[in-house]
Amino acid sequence: MRYIKIFDTTLRDGEQSPGASMNVDEKLHVARQLVRLNVDIIEAGFPVASPGDFEAVQRISEEIKGVTIAALARAKDVDIERAAEALRPAEQGRIHTFIATSDIHLKFKLRMTREEVLDAAVAAVKKARQYTDDVEFSAEDATRSDRDFLCRVTEEVIRAGAKTVNIPDTVGYAIPQEFGELIEYLMNRVPNVDKATISVHCHNDLGLAVANSLTAILKGAGQVECTINGIGERAGNAAMEEIVMALKVRPQYFQADTGIVTEEIYKTSRLVSKLTGMVVQPNKAIVGANAFAHEAGIHQDGFLKERSTYEIMRPEMVGIPQSKLVLGKHSGRHAFRERLRELGYELSEEELNHAFQRFKQLCDQKKYIFDDDLEALVSEEVKRVREVFKLIDLKVSSGTGTRPTAKVRMEIRGEERETTATGDGPVDATYKAIARLTETDSHLEKFEVKSITGGTDALGEVIVTLERDGRTVRGYGSDTDIIVASAKAYVNALNKLEGKKREPQRGV
Ligand code: KIV
Ligand code: ZN
Repeated sequence: MRYIKIFDTTLRDGEQSPGASMNVDEKLHVARQLVRLNVDIIEAGFPVASPGDFEAVQRISEEIKGVTIAALARAKDVDIERAAEALRPAEQGRIHTFIATSDIHLKFKLRMTREEVLDAAVAAVKKARQYTDDVEFSAEDATRSDRDFLCRVTEEVIRAGAKTVNIPDTVGYAIPQEFGELIEYLMNRVPNVDKATISVHCHNDLGLAVANSLTAILKGAGQVECTINGIGERAGNAAMEEIVMALKVRPQYFQADTGIVTEEIYKTSRLVSKLTGMVVQPNKAIVGANAFAHEAGIHQDGFLKERSTYEIMRPEMVGIPQSKLVLGKHSGRHAFRERLRELGYELSEEELNHAFQRFKQLCDQKKYIFDDDLEALVSEEVKRVREVFKLIDLKVSSGTGTRPTAKVRMEIRGEERETTATGDGPVDATYKAIARLTETDSHLEKFEVKSITGGTDALGEVIVTLERDGRTVRGYGSDTDIIVASAKAYVNALNKLEGKKREPQRGV
């Protein structure tokens, strides 16, 4: 069996999904869970892109051990220096430097010749090698690059000291057979290819990211770059769970495996979904709510007689819990903390105290507490950002024949204020009051509401997407009262926008 390295870029490329940005604490939660999942490399961010990205890479490098931490850098000295600085505390740091190699990028974006790009790539790798032995080079837009030029770049960056050369399908343009041929071509034509690991990084614009990655593995790629739930720029990146489980379910075919602890997959998927606000579609392979549900009568009949008739893998293999009932009002702090750990949340003492208090309040409102309720409650805790705006009190009156009215009391930069507003519905009235109190002017792009677990006492979860000055954020709130959950989500999003105010636009 060949060992395939898993390079997780959920915190970098994944976080580039519109509105999916996470704060540093959220990224640390994801990074800790990625360690439990046993990924080989965590790409923690793009340090030069923003102070927030720099801090995230630095904190992850300080706190997360036993795994390689990668930082992205364009083929520029300033980027490489910033990446090296952020990675300094890492046990094992990797500088991941890149430049585009396709003529279309050279002509319109970089305005550079092929020779200039080649020189820049070699210089970047040499510069990065001054800080670490572990240097990865990516030929951005490789799949639309001239093959022989790509071979030349690959050969030269390996000679300059790159230990990994990544072949990205940046725009998700490749078709599996063609992509496999490209990898084979490189394997056969680049004379020093055995001195480096060939990696692939596929985007999903044609829905082929996983298929392309698997074909590349068959042709000799030794590393795949992927994200949890396939989140990422535009249509996303290759979904890690799908690649890993394809190798696991078809070992004879691929003759390759990863080090992933597959039983941690579901938990990781849930955590990333909660913290990014990116909902997993029910029919999503491996981690969707219906991935192991058998609905048709004929299927159910066959399944009950012999599971393997309609099931190619057991839900337990990816860690889908059998029983979801967890805690109740008699549960203590210890059991609460342990269950959260099992769900992938490692809280600080302060976060735990606050979350436990909320848990006890919830126990008074709701008889049974399920994993989903706990996750909602805790992800609100983890999602807390520096609060410029705090919701103190909300009273709403609405009903048939009355104009909905909301009276909102908030703390605005340390000062308490109150106002009343009317609206087209109770949420509209509440949002108008909050906007007035905070003196903010943002555009509500999306309002999503869902009930967590069942029953009229269920926790309601609200995710709002706000846009201001070209920046998009998602705010999150949960409560048994759906209007309160809506208000919390809105205030959470406004706080995120305030936090982002001075950050420059980012992303690759
Ligand atoms: O898609 C891409 O080409 C990238 C590179 C920076 C690796 O994300
Ligand atoms: Zn990418």
